[in-house]
Amino acid sequence: MNLQLHSLSRAENDYDDLFRLDVLEGLRSSPKKLSSKYFYDKIGDHLFQKIMAMPDYYLTRCELDIFKNKTEELSRLIIPENEPFDLIELGAGDAMKSTFLLQHLIEKGVEFTYMPIDISGNILSILNEKLSKQFPTLEITCLEGDYFEMLHKAASLSDRRKVILFLGSNIGNMAMTEAEEFCLHLKHNLASEDKVLIGFDLQKNPHIILSAYNDREGITAAFNLNLLTRINRELDGDFDPDQFQHYQTYDPVSGACKSFLISLKNQNVRIGNDSIPFEEHELIDMEISQKFSPESIRELGEKSGFMINGEIKDSKGWFVDTIWQVP
Ligand code: AVI
Repeated sequence: MNLQLHSLSRAENDYDDLFRLDVLEGLRSSPKKLSSKYFYDKIGDHLFQKIMAMPDYYLTRCELDIFKNKTEELSRLIIPENEPFDLIELGAGDAMKSTFLLQHLIEKGVEFTYMPIDISGNILSILNEKLSKQFPTLEITCLEGDYFEMLHKAASLSDRRKVILFLGSNIGNMAMTEAEEFCLHLKHNLASEDKVLIGFDLQKNPHIILSAYNDREGITAAFNLNLLTRINRELDGDFDPDQFQHYQTYDPVSGACKSFLISLKNQNVRIGNDSIPFEEHELIDMEISQKFSPESIRELGEKSGFMINGEIKDSKGWFVDTIWQVP
């Protein structure tokens, strides 16, 4: 194991300031809005682990099915010639799914460096420890920070071909226009012949989708409400989470699965020195989990200038990993 940790040290204050600005701007807009990228503090990470283990939350198991049972097909699509390359994972987390691909590539004797990128240095060191035990010969370069800054860093570290993994339908947590900008930006940060593998949750029976986000145990509700508690703790707020209720919708026409928090009464919430008024029944738009049609995926790839290489679906046909190449 050859571990290198690269990070851009950014003052914690910068992050707090950005968090405060985003929250205040979102809560002053109409309709009110909070960004789901802030769901993932320590408690949020734990709640997301619980969500992934819920019987109705099929996304993780579907993509795991692809990585576990279609690994050879996957590796043939991402590196047909078995030539040396860098495998970069955006938001690697515990790399549960990609571990199957790493194992397969090591067994095939492919020369590659695994470069997980994550905003959390803590997650990267746990991942590093786990992978070093499991694969002592794996070359790993951990990149802590913003995706695009770290992609830039990765390009400066080696000129080998890059394959980017962006799994879990994380792309669905962006509005369609944001997803387009993200893919365009991704393409601009890559070189000719580099590839991206993106996981997309597909449109299917609306009941199946809604059940994945509307669990009776209230774990998804707690995941949303936890952001209010985080604001209280980190931004000196006084939200009463009991005075907000989770509401989930799925629109099978647009494929947008959205979560909201509803204010249960007229109330004023203080955040630091600012006060935000809420009317009874007023909504906060919390998260979009977009579900994709095959056409919308193709359109997204083509609009951002990628060439479509192929795709692999899970055995139920509910989730797809799509492989695009920079021409
Ligand atoms: C991380 N992301 C892909 C999850 C999703 O399915 O949109 C987050 C999530 N929100 C509620 N449940 C899971």
